[in-house]
Amino acid sequence: MSWIMNLLHAAEIEAHMIGEGALAGAELAGQFAMVSGDARERFVAVLGDPAGQRALFASLRAFKPNLAIERTLVTSYPCEGTVIVTRAQDVREVLDRQGDFAVVYEPKMRKITGGANFFLGMQDGDDYQRDTSVMRMAAARTDVADIIVPLARAEAQRIVAASNGTIDLPAALTTVVPALMVQQYFGIDTASLADLTEWATAMFWYLFVDLAGDPAIEARALDGAAKCLVAIDAAIAKTEQNPEGPVTVLRRAIKLRDAGTAGLQGTGIRDNMIGLVIGAIPTISKACVQALDGLLDRPDALAEAQVAAAQGNEAAVGRALFEALRFNPVNPVIYRRATRDCVIAEGTLRECAIKQDAMVLASNLSAMFDPAAVADADDFRTDRPWDIYMLWGYGLHRCFGDAINQAIIPALMTPLLAGRPLARAEGDAGHPDKMTPFPQHFTVAF
Ligand code: HEM
Repeated sequence: MSWIMNLLHAAEIEAHMIGEGALAGAELAGQFAMVSGDARERFVAVLGDPAGQRALFASLRAFKPNLAIERTLVTSYPCEGTVIVTRAQDVREVLDRQGDFAVVYEPKMRKITGGANFFLGMQDGDDYQRDTSVMRMAAARTDVADIIVPLARAEAQRIVAASNGTIDLPAALTTVVPALMVQQYFGIDTASLADLTEWATAMFWYLFVDLAGDPAIEARALDGAAKCLVAIDAAIAKTEQNPEGPVTVLRRAIKLRDAGTAGLQGTGIRDNMIGLVIGAIPTISKACVQALDGLLDRPDALAEAQVAAAQGNEAAVGRALFEALRFNPVNPVIYRRATRDCVIAEGTLRECAIKQDAMVLASNLSAMFDPAAVADADDFRTDRPWDIYMLWGYGLHRCFGDAINQAIIPALMTPLLAGRPLARAEGDAGHPDKMTPFPQHFTVAF
């Protein structure tokens, strides 16, 4: 179930929104009519599907681009009231105005580490700049081409070659390769691939997806966090025994710490490393699954991507995958809490007053379909400029793994696409399962 579905379920927003008349768009009405069941079920079914979400946002962009409601939809973080922001310019404005719209993750980050904050939970300032700077030294940009891409390519080739014409993507390929990156490049080789995947998924779900504050999700995440911290501490101790081993983020962080670099003293290394682990595995897997799912719905685009893959053209494969992901990104909204009463889109017809403490849901999915910012937004095109994509955030907190994602996703998917024509497995197995926010199974045949 997607982020937005959790949100909508959590708050039973639907009746309110219908009342607002915000859903009057003909496109949504058309989709609405196609599903059976009572009105609520039909509404939920429509919004469970990315096409339904896009139609909802299209209606909002047209009729109420910035929708402020008194109801508090997010209950897992303290806030009061909700604002949904849908136009590209306004989404960027919210994410650019750090001082007015703050990240909310700090309390959960502190529970995860057992004390310290992590830079995604920080406002811009000395601590944020110090931690991101040292971690960018530890995880150098050149490592993407030198270490991550060769690792992903080789492992994906091995996995695809060993499969017998069918592959269950998340279980066999798309969690395995990023988990190997965590072991071999991050340097957390003191836990199994399965454990790293389970812990990271539980923590990510708790921090970013569970907007209703489910205690069972918190318990699972904190259990995973405790185990992950033990594994990181063990990896630190192991690496300290072998300081001249192969380059890893951890080995570099230890060298920086020993040279007296601020931010890495005390528990600094483990607190920063767990933040990277959380981001890396379920996100990359879900992105690969949703991108391939989108290509399988578009046979011409899939065929083109397969030709590019057969030629080893990872850049062209990436353009197809990222365009498919635009239609169904890993996270369709990014949320911030207003630090004071303020106004967005001031002086335009979209002007919207936002009250202090309101949770602002800036929809990156909607921004990527805003015709005012994206040419032929509803068309599938592989020649789009990179800056229209908002697949992993925007502004100060844009994903730390930005360059990794851009390279590892095509690198790990190219060997699969390079083979014989891909097709979905028969029945439900051929579609990503929706048992959790992170697909566990999605079988394709070739
Ligand atoms: C396709 C895969 C990924 C997706 C969809 C994704 C998504 C995101 C998003 C939406 C944000 C911004 C959150 C916000 O502004 O509230 C973010 C930030 C972040 N991501 Fe990722 N991510 C991915 C991969 C990764 C990887 C591989 C890593 C680790 C190397 C990572 C580590 C982080 C960190 C540390 C931040 C915080 C950045 C900051 O506060 O400056 N992510 N990610």
